[in-house]
Amino acid sequence: MTNYQFLKPYTFANGATVKNRVVIPPMTEQSSLEDGSVSRDELYYAGLRAGGVGMFISPVANVTANGKGFEGQLSAADDKFIPSLAKLATAMKGTGHGSKAILQIFHAGRMSMSTILRGTQPESASAVAAPREGMETPRELTDAEVQDIVTAFGEATRRAILAGFDGVEIHGANTYLIQQFFSPHSNRRTDKWGGSVEKRMTFGLEIIKAAKAAIDQYATSPFILGYRISPEEIEEPGIRIPDTLQFIDKLADEPLDYLHISMGNAWRKSLNDKSETEPTILRIKKTVNNRVPLISVGAIQTPADAEKVMDAGIDFVAIGREYLREPHWIQKVEAGLEDTIRYRVNRTELDDLGLNPALMEFLGLLGTDLGFEGEADTGVVSPYDVVLNK
Ligand SMILES: Cc1cc2nc3c(=O)[nH]c(=O)nc-3n(C[C@H](O)[C@H](O)[C@H](O)COP(=O)(O)O)c2cc1C
Repeated sequence: MTNYQFLKPYTFANGATVKNRVVIPPMTEQSSLEDGSVSRDELYYAGLRAGGVGMFISPVANVTANGKGFEGQLSAADDKFIPSLAKLATAMKGTGHGSKAILQIFHAGRMSMSTILRGTQPESASAVAAPREGMETPRELTDAEVQDIVTAFGEATRRAILAGFDGVEIHGANTYLIQQFFSPHSNRRTDKWGGSVEKRMTFGLEIIKAAKAAIDQYATSPFILGYRISPEEIEEPGIRIPDTLQFIDKLADEPLDYLHISMGNAWRKSLNDKSETEPTILRIKKTVNNRVPLISVGAIQTPADAEKVMDAGIDFVAIGREYLREPHWIQKVEAGLEDTIRYRVNRTELDDLGLNPALMEFLGLLGTDLGFEGEADTGVVSPYDVVLNK
């Protein structure tokens, strides 16, 4: 069957058309060069998966040097990276009527470490360490520094445009700096960037403004602006779903082309309020009320899984780890070759799949394996459980 709803094209309000509703979500492979330039391994990895899906979102790139969060992180922090980013954009689009290449941009804030920053202390909204083993207490950013980071998101957007990307995704999810400003755990400020729930939204909203200004100034064709958000965190005090729905109500009126809801399982219910029976994505959909398209993600593997997301009236479905195993998922569905989609891989295939040791190590850190043939799932518990929702 090839008349799945997820195979239908979509035209954004800004006029950009994507050829189907399937998205590869951002997946850091920790494989960029030491300076943040794209490596040949990454170009191979991206090229192998390019061209079929409607949108291909890059591994996250840092917008300032101190915003780096991982070894082997892609960088968009300086104009010198534009040629490198251009190579990545070309690889991610693929040939013909390829995929839209979206650059995800972030600042890691307190989730970085002084080793990764080569001796510099991580920085955040307030000097509060993440309540996870081994995390350092960050330095509180000054008002002027916060403003500079907002500007840096605009600059990274300009670089994405000049490098030939079709859009950027602002990474406001997964415990990084934008989420740290929204969270009452990491943001204890009393200036314009903190305090009430509305004031904790300010940083994210100012970043959207900076990115939009860059698009208005530099883009010569429709350029997609997305925003990724995590609906909850487990910190105490921490972001709870009512706060998020309030923020999403605001985001839905911003000049965004999509909202990407980051969850480890697309049908997850509240992590904190166990009495809640409705999947979070459906509560978000009601709040959004068709004002902005939504991307849902988390443990989607089969065409039936993807179609279920469409049946719920969600606009896009993102497929992450399964795309590591199966780089031609969409082409196989289109060709009626669903039986050949791989849901497990053999360790001998890793090189051909562009899954290098750095990426495999990162997957191990995330507590996930790819379902190796003939091996049991390791089921390792990891600090990233909220992202991957074990
Ligand atoms: C190896 C790996 C790297 C990831 N890197 C990022 C990232 O750079 N930015 C981000 O927003 N999410 C990142 N994620 C989360 C994914 O985008 C996605 O939300 C998550 O894997 C759940 O989707 P899935 O079940 O389809 O894999 C990463 C996940 C994995 C497995």
